[in-house]
Amino acid sequence: MSEKQIQEAARLIVDSPSTVALTGAGISTESGIPDFRGPDGLWTKVDPMKFASVDAFLSDPKAWWETAVQIAPTLLDAKPNAAHKGLAKLEKMGLLQCIITQNVDGLHQRSGSQHVLEVHGNLVNAVCIVCNDRVGRQYIERKIKKKQLPPTCPTCGGILKLDAVLFGEALPQDVYRQAVTVAGNCRLMIVVGSSLTVYPAASLPSIATQTGARLIIVNQEQTPFDAEADLVFHSIAGATLTTIVEAVHALRGKR
Ligand code: APR
Repeated sequence: MSEKQIQEAARLIVDSPSTVALTGAGISTESGIPDFRGPDGLWTKVDPMKFASVDAFLSDPKAWWETAVQIAPTLLDAKPNAAHKGLAKLEKMGLLQCIITQNVDGLHQRSGSQHVLEVHGNLVNAVCIVCNDRVGRQYIERKIKKKQLPPTCPTCGGILKLDAVLFGEALPQDVYRQAVTVAGNCRLMIVVGSSLTVYPAASLPSIATQTGARLIIVNQEQTPFDAEADLVFHSIAGATLTTIVEAVHALRGKR
């Protein structure tokens, strides 16, 4: 990443009256959580349709939960990294209005970000596939401790599913509608750590640029939207965001 690019990113951020970040799994790899399609991604090892599809869940909810119980600690014990903290700092400075995340790890909230739209749900709650009732993490942990898998709904006895969106499931419509609105109203979108290949989330950068927003992409590998972006950083998110936020601080100090 060149000094010129960093300064240009800082200027875009300081001058933007409304900025939104769109994040993907790549912002959490430096917290020890593998991404999906990067060189070492989860989907290069596991067939997503075997684990992350709603059909796989419904065909064997017990096996699905046993796998989820193995994977969950990596996500739930992970700590926010410099990239999450950089976005939280921009929000504190009043220079980032909202984070739209495809991640379910909750690391943006744990780094202090207040305005987070989880368009693919989260791992904190579980939802009953029969009556749609939601339960919190404590209830789930009690069921896991008693080896009662799949956990059942306290209201109707139906099977519970973690609140993360699986392939074949609709996104939480109210959350996604808010994401489309903020993307359409922003003047700058900063994409961090996403291959921008999974829709409808991947349509958000175009929704932003079609209404005149500038676009910054921070992603180790190329994305299909690089040509549309004003600035592209094919670099590590933690170091890149730390450097950009430092340049924003310096630029603001001068004005
Ligand atoms: N810094 C910058 N970029 C990184 C880093 C890093 N430290 N680590 C990984 N990346 C990049 C990878 O090169 C990859 O291009 O982040 C991108 C992550 O892309 P994906 O693994 O496809 O993740 P994501 O875009 O979030 O996937 C979208 O697909 O499987 C579904 O529901 C799942 O929300 C997920 C959705």
